[in-house]
Amino acid sequence: MVRDPHGRPPIISINGVSKSFPGGVQALADISIEVAEGEFFALLGPSGCGKTTLLRILAGFETPSKGDVFIDGRNMSRVAPNHRPVNMVFQSYAVFPHMTVAENVAYGLKVGGGDRSGIPARVEEALELVRLAGYGDRSPQQLSGGQTQRVALARALVKKPRVLLLDEPLSALDAKLREAMQLELVRLQETVGITFVIVTHDQNEALSMADRIAVIEQGRLLQVASPLELYEYPTSRFVADFIGKMNLFEGTNLGCAGGVLSVNVNGLGRMDIPCEDNIEGDVGLAVRPEKMLLYDHRPDDRLAYEAIVDKIAYQGSETRVFLSTGDGINFEVSVRNASRRAAAESASGSVWVAWHPADTLILRD
Ligand SMILES: Nc1ncnc2c1ncn2[C@@H]1O[C@H](COP(=O)(O)OP(=O)(O)OP(=O)(O)O)[C@@H](O)[C@H]1O
Ligand SMILES: [Mg+2]
Repeated sequence: MVRDPHGRPPIISINGVSKSFPGGVQALADISIEVAEGEFFALLGPSGCGKTTLLRILAGFETPSKGDVFIDGRNMSRVAPNHRPVNMVFQSYAVFPHMTVAENVAYGLKVGGGDRSGIPARVEEALELVRLAGYGDRSPQQLSGGQTQRVALARALVKKPRVLLLDEPLSALDAKLREAMQLELVRLQETVGITFVIVTHDQNEALSMADRIAVIEQGRLLQVASPLELYEYPTSRFVADFIGKMNLFEGTNLGCAGGVLSVNVNGLGRMDIPCEDNIEGDVGLAVRPEKMLLYDHRPDDRLAYEAIVDKIAYQGSETRVFLSTGDGINFEVSVRNASRRAAAESASGSVWVAWHPADTLILRD
């Protein structure tokens, strides 16, 4: 459901889109998504799940086998790519090496035809937006990776599309620059107010940038939600496991009564979890590593299990602790290193792993 505060119709409406390629590859299966005007929307999923294919369908480089796409209220099925109110930044961002930065940015305006008189001013404006004012005369070889990426962005923005489609725009950058560019992209999107649809297979990137995220697995849409909702309330095992780290447990449903679901969890025994509605059939349970705490005694008011520390991975801000019970159940707990002293004290031997029942997710599929 699109939450447009102004009640406007969605800028993008993807209705039951499927795509099969010759040779029997079904890249997309019955995808329906609505994107609100001005949204920063992310398509997230593992390699080969169909993200680029969906973006190419929006851009008009690929035709759906079934279903249709509306952009700005118009059915796009007979609209050529260059007549759509969208622009695309490609997965392997290409800037032309034989053109200067300014010529690269102007390229999109020149091939589009029309009035050429305002081009230099529009190019300068686009370069300012991506913080490259004064770089117009440089050649792409004289730029860093992040600056090259910004040239590709400026070239896409200069035409002032209603929608900007970005296919893994930051994948070529190293981790530090990538984070800086993530913030930069969010700032840029807020400045220009254009709807962004960004493809990424990086969960953290999607969580930190997007207003909403669509998770796709093998061509199927699994969940569309805000970053917080997706991380804290995933609806499927796949999403729970794909976004961040997760402890997953399988169990038999013993029934729901008085707002409590009882589950006989393999290897851990009965767990009582708060639940809002009646849940039938077998369920999976899931707990995030940072919701679990380690104790040297059994704490009250929590689900608690005795386990042995198998392995520790110190990662600076946090330490990941891997544990197992005598019945072969594994836990991964992440401990925040809130002080130097805490960081130096690593868990070992036999400890209690515990968490609030309300932090247990119930997965039904
Ligand atoms: N032109 C094509 N002909 C045949 N199969 C294709 C074609 N384009 C894509 N595919 C297949 O469709 C599926 C989806 O491909 P797509 O490029 O959309 O994945 P992706 O999610 O963008 O992956 P990545 O993260 O690796 O870029 C893959 O199995 C791919 O091999
Ligand atoms: Mg791709």
